[in-house]
Amino acid sequence: MTAHTAHSSHPHSAAPAAPLPPGPRGREVFGVLRRMRTDILAEMERMAETYGDVAYVPIGRGAVFLRGHEAMRHVLVTEQDRYPKADVFQLFRPALGDGLVTSDGETWRTSRRMVQPMFAKRHLGAYAGHITAASTEAVDRWAVRWQSDVVAIDQAILTVGLDTVGRALASHDFTRDAERFEDAMGSSLTEIREMATSPLTHALQDLTTIGITRLAQWTTPRRWRRYHEAVEVVDEMIAALVDERLLNGHGDRDDLLRLLMESTDPDSGEGLTRKQVMDEVKTLVAAGHETTAHGLSWMFHLLAQCPEAERRLHAEVDAVLGTGTVLTVEVVDEQLGWTAACFKEAMRVIPPVWHLPRRAAVDDVIGGYRIPAGARVLPSIWATHRDPAVYADPTVFRPERWLGDEPRLRPRFSYLPFGGGRRACVGQGFAMLNATILGATIAHRFRFEALPGTVASFEPTITTRPRDPLFMRALPRVSTAS
Ligand code: HEM
Repeated sequence: MTAHTAHSSHPHSAAPAAPLPPGPRGREVFGVLRRMRTDILAEMERMAETYGDVAYVPIGRGAVFLRGHEAMRHVLVTEQDRYPKADVFQLFRPALGDGLVTSDGETWRTSRRMVQPMFAKRHLGAYAGHITAASTEAVDRWAVRWQSDVVAIDQAILTVGLDTVGRALASHDFTRDAERFEDAMGSSLTEIREMATSPLTHALQDLTTIGITRLAQWTTPRRWRRYHEAVEVVDEMIAALVDERLLNGHGDRDDLLRLLMESTDPDSGEGLTRKQVMDEVKTLVAAGHETTAHGLSWMFHLLAQCPEAERRLHAEVDAVLGTGTVLTVEVVDEQLGWTAACFKEAMRVIPPVWHLPRRAAVDDVIGGYRIPAGARVLPSIWATHRDPAVYADPTVFRPERWLGDEPRLRPRFSYLPFGGGRRACVGQGFAMLNATILGATIAHRFRFEALPGTVASFEPTITTRPRDPLFMRALPRVSTAS
């Protein structure tokens, strides 16, 4: 850890005098680029260890890698107007339209004003019921099929994760067509990743003013076509959900889709159009299900290496679920503290979203270094969560870190699985509820054993997706609750 500090600065006086941040130069740059293509997560950590919290790679208009709570606060909060979301988010537009993740300016502000209240605590109670139902049905199905079998837990949890989100959002059982939906969603993300990291697209982006989506159409036309085919599948499924409501009304369905379709903008008094509703539903499903599911899969992977934490988890879930307690928001808050701590710690060691791509709109200074206007800015959640200045033994999974006063004593932005500032995750309360209920329901019925030689490997799109199926042995459990 270096002694650099990020601070607000006056752009006119300080910017020209400050030097560029340290980083690879000359031929070293090729090594960095090569390693970034094979393992961007390790490379982000290596860069911070080698050059410090602010590192600069001279490619195109410059790429700035950031680690640590001070730099995070600077880019995401105090100076957030200088760091809009990176152009790469434009590539999500065909899939997610003008929903919260992709929009900007007034469109984003209006959306956020309407969507945020739907995640308020008073609505979480209804979602808890949906999440519990979907989780319980899933483990019941697994219990019939899994007798100490080796299973790809990431796939299984992704399907039930889609179901919990789908039910809370739209009272819809996605498990019937989960495979089709996930294939389409998964292939959209893969194509986006490949288009976003295409060296030709990158080079042209830095040389021209042509937008990234048009460049992607030109440089990777086959990927662009496959992407659009996948988008059509998702669109068709979401349109069916929305149109059914328009036709039949909401009935007694108590879900987010209802809130969305009934809400009006407090300023204009207007409701959302069909397209706006569709864009938000697609955005919430896309942003909500894979993140939570991967977080949970990694949690079980980490728990398998930590028997003491696992034993404590089993004792907690047996005491609550084994006695038939209904999982309300209050029960989750008061009685599933260790389960939540395990999930939080899993998100620290392997954050579901590993970085927050931004662009420097104007010249700036971070930690005494010049950040040139136009540079790509990559605040790394991954490297920040492994900052040895804040976390002792940073790679060790230790859920105790999230109990008692310890979390409050750590700097505010040293832990940011949900981002920060005004673009922070709108669904974080829901995500914690969802992960805790689903995680507890699974842990109550199964424990997962690692297979010898399994190492975590990632295909980092926006999320830390496992590169290969995460195979584990699923052992049915008998509750120890009396
Ligand atoms: C463990 C689960 C989750 C994680 C780790 C996570 C993480 C994040 C992060 C890091 C961001 C900020 C992205 C940026 O600033 O570039 C974000 C934004 C967002 N998340 Fe989540 N998320 C999770 C679950 C959810 C859920 C369950 C939903 C909704 C159902 C959701 C909806 C959104 C939306 C709509 C945004 C964009 C917000 C905006 O720009 O106004 N997320 N999420």
